[in-house]
Amino acid sequence: MRAVQFSEHGPPGVLRVAEVPEPAPGRSDVLVEVVCAGVTFAEVMFRRGQLPVGLPHVPGLAVSGWVVEVGDAVTTLRPGQRVAALTLAGGGGAELVVAPESTVVALEGELDRLSDAVAAAVPCSVTTAWGLLEAARVQPGETVLVLAAAGGVGSAAVQLAVAQGATVLAAVGHGAKRAAARSWGARHVVTYDELGDLDDLLGGRRVDVVLDAVGGPVRRAAAATLGFGGRHVVYGDASATDVVISTNAVWLTGTSLVGHNLGALAAAAPERLRTHLTEALHAVADGTVGLDVTEHPLADVAVAHAALESRASTGTHVLRVQGPGTGSRPGPAVG
Ligand SMILES: NC(=O)c1ccc[n+]([C@@H]2O[C@H](COP(=O)([O-])OP(=O)(O)OC[C@H]3O[C@@H](n4cnc5c(N)ncnc54)[C@H](OP(=O)(O)O)[C@@H]3O)[C@@H](O)[C@H]2O)c1
Repeated sequence: MRAVQFSEHGPPGVLRVAEVPEPAPGRSDVLVEVVCAGVTFAEVMFRRGQLPVGLPHVPGLAVSGWVVEVGDAVTTLRPGQRVAALTLAGGGGAELVVAPESTVVALEGELDRLSDAVAAAVPCSVTTAWGLLEAARVQPGETVLVLAAAGGVGSAAVQLAVAQGATVLAAVGHGAKRAAARSWGARHVVTYDELGDLDDLLGGRRVDVVLDAVGGPVRRAAAATLGFGGRHVVYGDASATDVVISTNAVWLTGTSLVGHNLGALAAAAPERLRTHLTEALHAVADGTVGLDVTEHPLADVAVAHAALESRASTGTHVLRVQGPGTGSRPGPAVG
């Protein structure tokens, strides 16, 4: 089968479309014929060697497609169903991928109206955002600072926080992304260099929650915006610059540091992750969360990676693995 693969770490040019062996499902797994595959910044980190991964590696953490085969122990899914899936072991950027039953959701009822591209964009980005809001225990009326707010996870987090009655302060790397962040419902939008002086903007209030996958000096500036009881949720390190947060500072300011990671959640509480994935799909299907999806042909996977790394990209990126009507299954309406 055709699959995106890299055999060494490096720039986007190490990504190739290659012929690789087809995967086989284990007893609790589902084999999915992939129509679209999401591309997220986590895969950029794997490709760079910033997060550990065995080589050669087929990247791809989220897909939409059709169930081809299920393992003996699978009870909730059957061949022929249209699905969205998290493929947290990678492998999504391929014609076939295996996922555990716990991270595969049938696109039935209102979920069937999701297009293939949108259904592939949701599992990693919106599911992560859903988990962030839960981890942060966001309450109506609270002020939530979302970093990288114009990106895939960030734009979903802005919308989910607004839907929960929070006031969202969006922060972006440069001014060109202000309009995108505001379009998702953020009350205020700032660039990172403005985080040091929010008094006028917030009327003297402090921030209750920070959602942070940026790291580096921005992480320090964001931590300093929190008030008593504030929660700093860390879920990535796009700047590749970890920082040390003083436990004494946590004590003296009465704030908390919280981590969120899909892989860790999948290992510890797969049913909770499945709930997050299902809720994320419904939030998009019912219009609570809108997505700005850029679609690329599979062969242009390096273009998608370069766009994410450039910091110029907004919204989410997906690869089209299979053209409408070219797969072995009947094609759904592509909306
Ligand atoms: N914990 C989890 O389970 C989990 C799951 C999925 C994704 N993530 C993380 O969530 C974050 C967002 O993922 P995404 O796929 O939606 O990506 P994205 O937000 O669309 O793109 C990454 C963004 O990070 C920001 N950034 C800050 N410093 C950067 C740097 N030095 N180089 C490149 N980008 C930089 C940029 O926005 P600005 O220019 O506005 O800063 C960039 O647009 C990533 O950090 C990813 O690793 C975590």
